[in-house]
Amino acid sequence: MAGHNDFQDMYRNKVILAPMVRVGTLPARLLALRHGADLVYTEEVIDFKMINATRIKNEVIGTIDYKTKDGQLAFRTCTLETSKVIFQMGTCSPTRALEVARMVQNDVAGIDINMGCPKEFSLKGGMGAALLRNPEKIKEILTTLVNGLSIPVTCKIRVLPTLEENIELVQMIEGTGVAAIGIHGRLTAERPRHKNRDHVIKQLAEAVKIPVIANGGSKEIKEYGDIEKFRLSCGASSVMIARAAEHNNSIFRKEGKLPLDDVIKAYLKLAIDYDSLFYNCKYNIQHMLCELLDSERGREFLATKTMADICIIWDMLDYYNEVQEQMVAKETMLRSQNEAVMIQATKKRKLEDGTEILEMPFEFVKNYYPVDASPKSILHDHCVSNYTAPPTYKTVDNAEHCFHSVMTLEGCKYASTIWHRSKKWAEQAAAVVYLLTNGMHDGRKPLRQSNSQEPQENGTNNKCSENTTINNSTTNKSNTNNDTKQFNDSEQTSAFENDISKEKQEEIRSNE
Ligand SMILES: Cc1cc2nc3c(=O)[nH]c(=O)nc-3n(C[C@H](O)[C@H](O)[C@H](O)COP(=O)(O)O)c2cc1C
Repeated sequence: MAGHNDFQDMYRNKVILAPMVRVGTLPARLLALRHGADLVYTEEVIDFKMINATRIKNEVIGTIDYKTKDGQLAFRTCTLETSKVIFQMGTCSPTRALEVARMVQNDVAGIDINMGCPKEFSLKGGMGAALLRNPEKIKEILTTLVNGLSIPVTCKIRVLPTLEENIELVQMIEGTGVAAIGIHGRLTAERPRHKNRDHVIKQLAEAVKIPVIANGGSKEIKEYGDIEKFRLSCGASSVMIARAAEHNNSIFRKEGKLPLDDVIKAYLKLAIDYDSLFYNCKYNIQHMLCELLDSERGREFLATKTMADICIIWDMLDYYNEVQEQMVAKETMLRSQNEAVMIQATKKRKLEDGTEILEMPFEFVKNYYPVDASPKSILHDHCVSNYTAPPTYKTVDNAEHCFHSVMTLEGCKYASTIWHRSKKWAEQAAAVVYLLTNGMHDGRKPLRQSNSQEPQENGTNNKCSENTTINNSTTNKSNTNNDTKQFNDSEQTSAFENDISKEKQEEIRSNE
């Protein structure tokens, strides 16, 4: 394990993509790396969202997905960025932060704690900029992470009103053993139109030995050369860029920025390849187009309702359709391979009472299935439509509080050989054994996120569309349920976005 001092070099002389909600997702991060960024931060992910997530190897698109209990994608990454990606977390709890950080630490290069978010949901939850007024909590969170992880830990702060307070804060943070500190040179209450306090960052960089990553300079960063000017103005080791990269991701190119249309096309290609959700893709391109939204193409773009609509504008519909077809084919192939392996491993044996039991080593993973279309409910519906008596489940537990269930249907018994941590999961596993051995689909959600749906009636397009399934009767139910969940869960994000657009309006006004 590398010492924490060794980690500091990772943050020296670097140009970094700053954390940005919705913008800092996989396609934009990969594009920034391609353009020359040294490190890329994820969007802030709240610890609560990750805490019960399942890590899934998405073999269809070659990513690692962390999915919440209700199937939402909380974080997607891939090996192309593992050594460069910093996972930013919103938290106010050392134990939760450590649990989440440990969960992802083999898939990322570092962990960053957001201590600068000024939004209401963060402040009310004691996260983001609220931490700046709670140094004891900062100390607890950072020390717990530094001691408990094998990858570097950093935090990103905003500045406080007085120099003394700032120096005390950064020196305390340095004392926790973090590898670097990101400093956005604005107060919590300030907005992008306010001048960034480069001089305060400079004084703080002189007050600590760990690398300081200067942030807040996007207004002045028009070209690659401006990045170094900003770094020098802040006396910092490195620079972290948000809005300049949001508008044109090629700001990281030493050779100079690329035309916006080329950047949009490159982004769109990655969004297609990595199966991004339509609303996320639209959000990103919308922020790239910015004032061009008022052009004919901009208006055409604003009217788009599906990924395919966006692709038509940039002449990429054929590519999109081709990739979608390949994904469907790969998913189908992988599914049948997995099922074939399970069926091959199935064993039939006679029980003492003379009945037969079919067993396979099937492990039920809750997050793989839609909330309201479980294998048990599929089996139940099957029995109803075939006028057979419903299955019965006999479930036992052992000394380790693990459960094993035997399902009986029409005199035959079915069970998984794997013991599960919950009674319900053990029963679901037994139901799956019946479904697979009878050539039926177990209702598992596709790994792909289908982007082909129409927008929601409320026009948000804010659709989590994991559940385009095989079985029509379950598809409709599960989509409805998932949409509601997504909508509720993204209230935080919506609040954030509303504020951002207000900020943007302010920014445009202040630029005028
Ligand atoms: C769209 C958007 C989303 C943001 N999301 C986050 C976030 O998730 N975490 C965070 O620490 N800062 C976030 N920020 C703040 C930026 O990381 C950065 O601190 C700020 O924009 C100032 O840097 P700049 O001048 O380079 O834009 C966000 C900013 C924008 C514009």
